[in-house]
Amino acid sequence: MKVVVFLLAVFGARVIIADDDPPQYADRECGTDLNNLWIDVVAVVDNSIGMTNDGLTSVAANLASVFSSGTRIGTNPKEPRTTRLGLVTYNAGATLNADLNKFQSLDDIYDNVFNDLSRVSSSDESNLEAGLALAENLLATQSTGTSRDHYKKVVVVYASAYNGDSPVPISWRLRSSGVVIITVAFVQLGDDTLLWQLANIASPGYNFTNVDDEGNLIGKIQEAFLETNCFCPNHWIQYQYNISDTTSYKYGICIEAIGMSAVWRAAKMSCANRWKNSYLATEFNQQKHDFIVDSIKTSITGFSQPYTYHIGLNMVKGKWVWDQPSGLAPLELQDWTNWVDGYPMSSSTQTAVLNMQINETVLTQWQNTDALKTSANYFCETAACDTDNYCTSAVNDN
Ligand SMILES: *[C@@H]1O[C@H](CO)[C@@H](O)[C@H](O)[C@H]1NC(C)=O
Ligand SMILES: *[C@@H]1O[C@H](CO)[C@@H](O)[C@H](O)[C@H]1NC(C)=O
Ligand SMILES: *[C@@H]1O[C@H](CO)[C@@H](O)[C@H](O)[C@H]1NC(C)=O
Repeated sequence: MKVVVFLLAVFGARVIIADDDPPQYADRECGTDLNNLWIDVVAVVDNSIGMTNDGLTSVAANLASVFSSGTRIGTNPKEPRTTRLGLVTYNAGATLNADLNKFQSLDDIYDNVFNDLSRVSSSDESNLEAGLALAENLLATQSTGTSRDHYKKVVVVYASAYNGDSPVPISWRLRSSGVVIITVAFVQLGDDTLLWQLANIASPGYNFTNVDDEGNLIGKIQEAFLETNCFCPNHWIQYQYNISDTTSYKYGICIEAIGMSAVWRAAKMSCANRWKNSYLATEFNQQKHDFIVDSIKTSITGFSQPYTYHIGLNMVKGKWVWDQPSGLAPLELQDWTNWVDGYPMSSSTQTAVLNMQINETVLTQWQNTDALKTSANYFCETAACDTDNYCTSAVNDN
């Protein structure tokens, strides 16, 4: 019985990852392949007395375990999907134990990290500000502005306490420049101060502790790495479950609003030329439709009421289909539809679909129009950069 279940599981996984799958009528999810992780990580580890030697060795073990055996560590001229790890320790001040180029394999990590994190320092000061400043400097000199400029940058802080200058300003500066901060609090009994201090520093949802995570701290850090690795090129917005909640589920889909009008056929061409495999946006369900409308309301210029914008729905050989990446067959429209009452109108020329604002409650619905006559703004869509989809850059280099 076990064998059968196992085979089914393997078969299921193959079906999901095979390249020649028929396209799914669902929005793409972020890649989850740790072997193909491509990020730059700096671990910032407290080695003040409060951490204790046992605590520090536990950090070393946790840190080493986060990297899966298949993750390519270091750099590789043939395969860009690699992950680098730098190591900073801090007490009264900060020390650079490993810059981002030192570890070139998982063995290098094992050979060094346990040694670097074997004994606490003689200081009881825990100056996280100094640790973060050194991490910031490392990323600024060895990642930003280099051939890995577009790799997402992650700082993982392991702390038992902190004092000294406030690390909050520098953490905000790092986060506003796109660096993701993960914190792991080594909690002392009855002391919650550290927890809320670190929650202030961590990126939303990435404040963890060594005790509260049901033994799955490694899984949570890996998940944070994968989520971080899933990102959109500049000017594209990542589709997520709730646009007003930055911690809500993110899809492996990027949307770009074009606030300059064009007819549908030109909009389709324009979308195809914006990024690798981009196309006019799909609305498979209400949730995606709402996200697109909400994105206009929250963050986009060039749109004014009443809103009208092209999406990828169009009529091909008598069927309503969604535009797809070049080389893929269009996808036929399925269950969820959003037509204005009385639409689609039967017509040989009204073959393209526009979202049209119906009333002041900012409700948009579909109506079919002429693909060569009606001009409107439009939304393009593409796959996010992630472990399954390496991007050579974060700017439009197509
Ligand atoms: C993370 O921070 C939030 C508040 O920002 C808090 O509600 C949550 O309990 C924290 N998680 C942990 C594990 O400390
Ligand atoms: C989306 O997030 C906002 C802010 O957190 C919240 O107020 C709202 O209720 C959420 N909407 C849904 C549908 O969950
Ligand atoms: C807006 O239009 C929708 C769909 O036609 C309708 O159900 C709703 O009542 C309208 N709202 C207002 C305020 O007119």
